[in-house]
Amino acid sequence: MEIRQAKAEELSSGIAPVSHYFGSAPGEEAVRSFARVLRPERMFVAEEDGKIVAGASAFEFQFTVPGAVVPAAGVTIVGVLPTHTRRGILTQLMRVQLDDAHERGEPVASLWASEETIYGRFGYGMAALCGELEIQRVYGGFRKPPEHGGSFRLLSYEEALDAIPPVYARVAGETPGMFARPREWWEARALHDSESRRDGAGEMMRVVLERDGEGLAYAIYRLKMGFEAGSSTGEVHVIEAMGVSPEATAGIWRYLLDVDWMDRLQAELLPVDHPLFLLLEQPRRMRFRLADSLWLRLVDVGAALAARSLEGDVVLEVTDSFCPWNEARYSLDGAKTMEDADLRLDVSDLASVYLGGFTFAQLLRAGRIEELTDGALGCADAVFRTDRAPWCPEIF
Ligand SMILES: CC(C)(COP(=O)(O)OP(=O)(O)OC[C@H]1O[C@@H](n2cnc3c(N)ncnc32)[C@H](O)[C@@H]1OP(=O)(O)O)[C@@H](O)C(=O)NCCC(=O)NCCS
Repeated sequence: MEIRQAKAEELSSGIAPVSHYFGSAPGEEAVRSFARVLRPERMFVAEEDGKIVAGASAFEFQFTVPGAVVPAAGVTIVGVLPTHTRRGILTQLMRVQLDDAHERGEPVASLWASEETIYGRFGYGMAALCGELEIQRVYGGFRKPPEHGGSFRLLSYEEALDAIPPVYARVAGETPGMFARPREWWEARALHDSESRRDGAGEMMRVVLERDGEGLAYAIYRLKMGFEAGSSTGEVHVIEAMGVSPEATAGIWRYLLDVDWMDRLQAELLPVDHPLFLLLEQPRRMRFRLADSLWLRLVDVGAALAARSLEGDVVLEVTDSFCPWNEARYSLDGAKTMEDADLRLDVSDLASVYLGGFTFAQLLRAGRIEELTDGALGCADAVFRTDRAPWCPEIF
């Protein structure tokens, strides 16, 4: 078994192992799309007897963490053919991938896990949650109407490519867990209206909320029309919606909830601190359900801590069996220190608090960390706390 970097022409073969689990060989459309946003040298494959049996890749993200934007590996296309599982191939792929990210100076790696049992052993920790909702339009009233002073404009694909990215960039820059989308990402992924993603609904619709020519919010959505005894059972399927201010965010959700003739609205991959909880008159009617979203790996603990510009007097002792270069005691500025530790924890648990998605107190209550100095937990939580929950609006 050889583990190696893929050649440019092997993209399709490297996608094939994970594609197998979706029930088919990779389609031409998917391969074309990955080719635009994935650099071939970021794909590793396992080859046996001239055949590729496994792969693991990484996008190169500019990734927002609280207070900074850092380069990050966005791990994707991970799969081992069922003929070759449980022989340690994923472990070898994770080894070369994390060594590669470390050499490239990426302080963190992030991913969406197909199953929660896979990545903890490689030092990833659950770092963010997300939610989904489904609400009948009759229950979609707000406590008060949003005052954004703008107007809405439906966009063609080309218009969307101009109007939407600046809004996204403003939100992404200040939301931990989001990453910058280059133009190719918009074309190949975020605004690409793939037939295979419609799930019985219509074309991708795009709308922007503007005031004085400035984009304030946008939504990407589909309508799925249906009827029962002559009345509409139509659904608004929200793909993505966000705004640069509280008024704009309220405005775009008001728009989505006000599409006439529709019966209900559904949305997934939402931030857990979504303003709808406090905007709606009847938030219970959203039937909001939680799940894990981003998993994070601190590839270089010192650099990751330094990026957060934390100020406080707490020493963390970090264990890391998969990336031993990280095993050390750290002050909060990321420097290694010989001082006595106040908290002892695994690198995967530090990843869980890093974006602000969980607290040290939560880790302690789950029996995952040790407080060695009384009061250190409270100090660490005060320093790590963030104003907003981490959010990644897109599975990559
Ligand atoms: C998940 C997957 C990549 C694992 O590959 P693999 O080569 O079998 O993994 P390894 O042999 O290196 O396993 C390493 C360890 O992880 C465990 N493990 C691997 N996959 C697991 C899973 N899905 N659930 C629970 N444990 C798992 C193994 O049991 C092994 O544990 P051990 O060291 O205690 O024996 C493979 O099963 C797969 O392709 N699954 C379907 C596609 C998928 O889910 N891809 C991930 C996308 S995010």
